[in-house]
Amino acid sequence: MIFKYTYGTPIETQATVEKLEDSSEALKLLNMSTAEDKISFSYKMSANDIVYGLGESVRGINKRGWSYTSFCADDPVHTESKNSLYGAHNFIIVSGAKTFGVFVDTPAGVTFDIGYTALNDLVITPQEQDLVLYVITGDNEKDIVRQFRKMVGKGYAPPRWAFGFQQSRWGYKTADDLRRVAKGYRDSDIPIDAIYMDIDYMTDYKDFTVDEEKFPNFKSFVAEMKEQDIKLVPIIDAGVKIEKGYDVYEEGVKNNYFCKDENGSDFISAVWPGLTHFPDFLKDEARQWFGSKYKVLTDTGIEGFWNDMNEPAIFYSKNKLDKAWERVDEYRNKNLDINSYFELRDVFSGLEDYKGFYHSIDGKMVRHDKVHNIYGFNMTKSAAQAFDTIAPNKRLLLFSRSSYIGMHRYGGIWTGDNQSWWSHIELCLKQLPGLNMCGFMYIGSDIGGFGANTTEDLVLRWLALGVFTPLMRNHSAIGTREQECYLFENKDWFKDIISVRYKLIPYLYSEFMKANINNEMMFRPLAFDYPRDNMAKQVEDQLMVGDSIMIAPVYKQNAHGRYVYLPQNMLFVKMRGDSYTCEVLKKGHHYINVELSEVPLFIKENGALPMVKSALSTEKLDCTQLEVLALVQDSARYVLYTDDGISKDAKGQYTEISVTRQSNEYSINCDDKSLTLTVEAFGGNIIE
Ligand code: GLC
Repeated sequence: MIFKYTYGTPIETQATVEKLEDSSEALKLLNMSTAEDKISFSYKMSANDIVYGLGESVRGINKRGWSYTSFCADDPVHTESKNSLYGAHNFIIVSGAKTFGVFVDTPAGVTFDIGYTALNDLVITPQEQDLVLYVITGDNEKDIVRQFRKMVGKGYAPPRWAFGFQQSRWGYKTADDLRRVAKGYRDSDIPIDAIYMDIDYMTDYKDFTVDEEKFPNFKSFVAEMKEQDIKLVPIIDAGVKIEKGYDVYEEGVKNNYFCKDENGSDFISAVWPGLTHFPDFLKDEARQWFGSKYKVLTDTGIEGFWNDMNEPAIFYSKNKLDKAWERVDEYRNKNLDINSYFELRDVFSGLEDYKGFYHSIDGKMVRHDKVHNIYGFNMTKSAAQAFDTIAPNKRLLLFSRSSYIGMHRYGGIWTGDNQSWWSHIELCLKQLPGLNMCGFMYIGSDIGGFGANTTEDLVLRWLALGVFTPLMRNHSAIGTREQECYLFENKDWFKDIISVRYKLIPYLYSEFMKANINNEMMFRPLAFDYPRDNMAKQVEDQLMVGDSIMIAPVYKQNAHGRYVYLPQNMLFVKMRGDSYTCEVLKKGHHYINVELSEVPLFIKENGALPMVKSALSTEKLDCTQLEVLALVQDSARYVLYTDDGISKDAKGQYTEISVTRQSNEYSINCDDKSLTLTVEAFGGNIIE
């Protein structure tokens, strides 16, 4: 059951698609207090309660022991001391003595103090007093997630090619740079489906322009890449450069499409191009107008985009910078002591000015900080809605940096500017289930790490996790060590790992689509699947992925393997390119050895994993020949979802595959006779 409680007069966030009536039942589990002009909701947790959720956030799968602030932040240093990342995903599940979900729907910030101030106290404090609170009860965590996801609507489905490996780097400047990357991959036989175009493809960082000197005859270049089965994916930033004669700027000014400052003039702030205006994505006409601009690029054959800097990221506002200069002048020639020196040093930080501009909502001016968390959401909605007109029945790739619950209906997300740190492989793993809970299914991190210099082993281990994330993209920052896979000493190992991804695409795509359609999570904490197993509840670095497998990536440097916990007997599979080794392992703890070129995974009892022969692009995969790997106790069963991978109204087909055992012989059955299947099965009774 979902209980809704409205407080004040909240601004519509569009997080939900189902409209519910208010009920006072919502406040039966939570204690509401309204002290000192602050409203808050609290709950006394039992010592063993686990709290799941909050999507893109720091720390563990169990969110207890920290205070998190949902306020989309442009912060590239994701250490455990941080409170906010790029997304605002205000949904949690308390699991234990009582199990229930809480969603705080407000476009402004919210703080979730989950045992930070006091170990057993959960205190939720919204920044603004106008909000909608949802409390969800159900049979178990999965049931609560299903109800929540149904309420917030079906998730975005990308084209199937977006499940291929993708390469990006901030620093590719010309068509020849991109040609070199394509050649690097193709010459080394490392599979790839897409290469990204970061800000340097534009003329002076102007959205919807392509620098003709660096990219002469862009349309034919897009086609040239497609001939090699490579799609180009350009970036679009939120800020529009202020420049006389630039059509996007001129149209925005003329039609009042930009956010305003307190005097009603177009708000001036700076991002990559220097001074910019921000489109008021909260205004219907502005959203439609900006979305229509993507056509400039789709007309050249582009089929995918990433929306960036849409928290929005602000280097400085003109107002705040002017004040900062004044402060500097005050300090000039002074004897700087402990206080004044540090004050001077901080003058140029924190110039982002979220209280300095306004949106027009239903004719009223609303200060940005009160609706901050839905800005990036609406930028992505603007693109997605335009795509319905630009390419009515074709799925385009679209994902965003900033997000709020509900944006998952329009696009995916990547987890922003991480670092080439081992702890960030682990962070990525831990974010996956929370993101799925909140509706975000097309997700992934910058593999190899965005900031800082990477190492060969780090990229390999990260890729071995990335094999399972729907978005599998290697991306890095300008000035850091180059990390394209073909540049490293052991290119073959990269080929081995990325080939595993292509082998698993039928399974991953099937699991992604089924989870999306059925409001389920593709990535689940072990405890969701083994609720009576107390050990499983504590496992933070292994996940269930889809119906058949569990993953346990190696994420420590110089480790030759790792400990894993098996909540039941499983088939331990080490994959490398098109080959693999298998071993049946008993329920319990094990140490597994995993080489840098291998991808470990575990097939559940009576689980079956369909695979295909690897290929150099998704286009080249032959999905009519399936190799099925199974661990059969009595009968293993798998339902494979397939569709054309590109049309929006594609009719999904469900193929039932089963592997049965009679004495030591296995037979495979499938209701689609156009498929050729081979099977390799292991029996649970081998264990003794
Ligand atoms: C932001 C993005 C990053 C991109 C860079 C340059 O930092 O998060 O992915 O490479 O901007 O556009």
